[in-house]
Amino acid sequence: MPPLDHIATPSNSRPLRQIRQLPGPRPLPFIGNSLQVKLPRIHLDMEGWARRYGPFVRAWFGPQLMLVVSDSEAIAAILRDRPDGFRRPLSSVIVAEEMGSQPGVFLAEGAAWRNQRRMVMAGMAPGAIKAYFPSLVTVAQRLQRRWAGAAARGQAINLDDDLKRYTVDIIAGLAFGTKVNTLEAGDDVIQRHLDAILPAVARRSLSLVPYWRYVKLPRDHRLDRDMAALKLAIADLIAQARLRMTQDPSRRERPPNLLEAMIVAADEKDSGVNDGNVAGNVLTILLAGEDTTANTISWMLYLLQRNPQALAKAREEVRRLAPDVSGYTIEQMDSLDYLGACASEAMRLKPVAPYIPLEALRDTVIADIAIPAGTMICCLMRHDTVSDTHFADAQAFKPERWLAEGEHETNNKRAAMPFGSGLRTCPGRYLALLEIKIAMAMLLGSFDIAGIDTPDGGEAQELMGFVMSPIGLSMRLSKS
Ligand code: HEM
Repeated sequence: MPPLDHIATPSNSRPLRQIRQLPGPRPLPFIGNSLQVKLPRIHLDMEGWARRYGPFVRAWFGPQLMLVVSDSEAIAAILRDRPDGFRRPLSSVIVAEEMGSQPGVFLAEGAAWRNQRRMVMAGMAPGAIKAYFPSLVTVAQRLQRRWAGAAARGQAINLDDDLKRYTVDIIAGLAFGTKVNTLEAGDDVIQRHLDAILPAVARRSLSLVPYWRYVKLPRDHRLDRDMAALKLAIADLIAQARLRMTQDPSRRERPPNLLEAMIVAADEKDSGVNDGNVAGNVLTILLAGEDTTANTISWMLYLLQRNPQALAKAREEVRRLAPDVSGYTIEQMDSLDYLGACASEAMRLKPVAPYIPLEALRDTVIADIAIPAGTMICCLMRHDTVSDTHFADAQAFKPERWLAEGEHETNNKRAAMPFGSGLRTCPGRYLALLEIKIAMAMLLGSFDIAGIDTPDGGEAQELMGFVMSPIGLSMRLSKS
C-alpha cells in the first residue's frame, strides 16, 4: 500500500484491490448489512467494523456498495479532492428536495456550490464575526441571566435545550439580522420546527426503502406540516430583509448580514442564485450552525466536569484573563489558549460529526483500492483520533496535548478534522469556536458547577441523529 499517495488516477501499473474484495461484515441477501447498523448508534457500529476489519471496510446497504474509510491520511486526501473528485451523496440532495427545500451551500455542487460558498464565506469571515462580537456577548449575558435564575432556584438546567437557544439566537442575529430571543422570550417558530425536522432528515437519509414516496405515515404528514411552517417563517425573514433594504438602500452597498448579502447577490443579473437558493441557505445555516455548536459545548462541559484538574485550569485562566462578561473583548477570547485546547480535545473525543458521507464523481484510487465513479464512501472521523498510534494516551482528556510544541510532540494533530478539510471545510468554524469560548468563559467565570448529570447516573450515551449528541445531560450550578 503506498504510504502517502492516497488518491491517484487509475493506472495499470499496479494491481488494485476491488471494494468487493475488502474485508467487512457478512452481508445478508438483498438487505446487505443494513440491519447491522441502527441510526441512533450507526457511528459506533461502523467504528466497530473499522476496529475489526481495518482501515478500509466493505459494506452493503441494500444493493449499494459502500467503502468505509477510517485511515485519517486517506480521509484527508479524499476531503481535499473536492469539489472535483467527490461530492456529498446525491441521495441527501434528493431527500432535501423531497422535503421541499432547495439545496443550500451544504448540498450544492459544481458552479452553484462555488457561487453560494463565496457568499456564505463572506458572511462568516472573521471580519464579519468580529463586527458582530458585541451581539455575541449580549446573547451570552442572556444565558448568564437564565442560568443565574436556575442557580438561585436550585433548578437543574437542561443543557441541550438552553445551549440550542443560545446558538439559534446567535445565528439568527448574525446571519439574518433578526433579533430572535429564545433564551428570554420563549419558543421561536423556527426553532420549534427545526427540532422536528432535524431527526427526520437523518432518518430519511439512512432509510433503506424510501416508503414516503409511496405512502405517508402520520409522522410524514407531520413533517410536511413542519416543513411548510418553516418555509413560511423563512419567506417572512426574506420579506423582512427586503423591506429593510427598500427602506434603507445603503444596505445594498454594504449588506450588514448574510441574508441581505445573499439577496443582493440573487438580485444581480445572471447571478445564478435565486430566491429559492437564498431560502435554502437560510435553512442550511440554521441546520449547520445550531446543533453542532450546542452539542460540542455540552460534550466539552461533560468532559471537563469529569476531569477536575483540567476544569480548574480552564477556570483559573478565564478568571485571570477574562473576568467580566460585560467587558469581554475579542482579544480576551483569543487569549484563552487553554480553553481553546479544551475545545479541541472535546472535539477529538466527541466529534459531533463522527462521519462524513461522500460519493465519488469519477473513477479514482484510494490507497490501493479502485473506486468507480458513483461509489459511496463513508469517512469515519473518530478512529485515528482515539488511537494511541496518533495520540499518546489517546483515551484520556488532556487539553495540554494541543499546546505542546517541538520535537517531543507525540500527537498527530492532523488526524483530527472536526470541521472537515479541503475547500468544503466548515465555513462556520471561527464563529463556532468563538461561541464556545464565550459561553464557557461566561459559565466558568460566573458559576461553580455542582454537577453534570446523566439520566441514569452512568456514562453519557452517544446518540446519532442529525449530529452526535449526549443523551439527557443536565447541569446543576451554584453562584460563585
Ligand atoms: C462546533 C461546531 C461545528 C462543527 C463541529 C461543524 C462541523 C462541520 C463539518 C464536519 C462539516 C463538513 C465539512 C467537510 O465536508 O469537509 C461542516 C460543514 C458546514 N458547516 Fe459546520 N460545524 C460547526 C458549526 C457551524 C456553524 C456555526 C455554521 C454556520 C453558521 C456552520 C456551517 C456549515 C456549512 C454551511 C457547511 C457546508 C460547507 C460546504 O459544503 O461548503 N457550521 N461543518
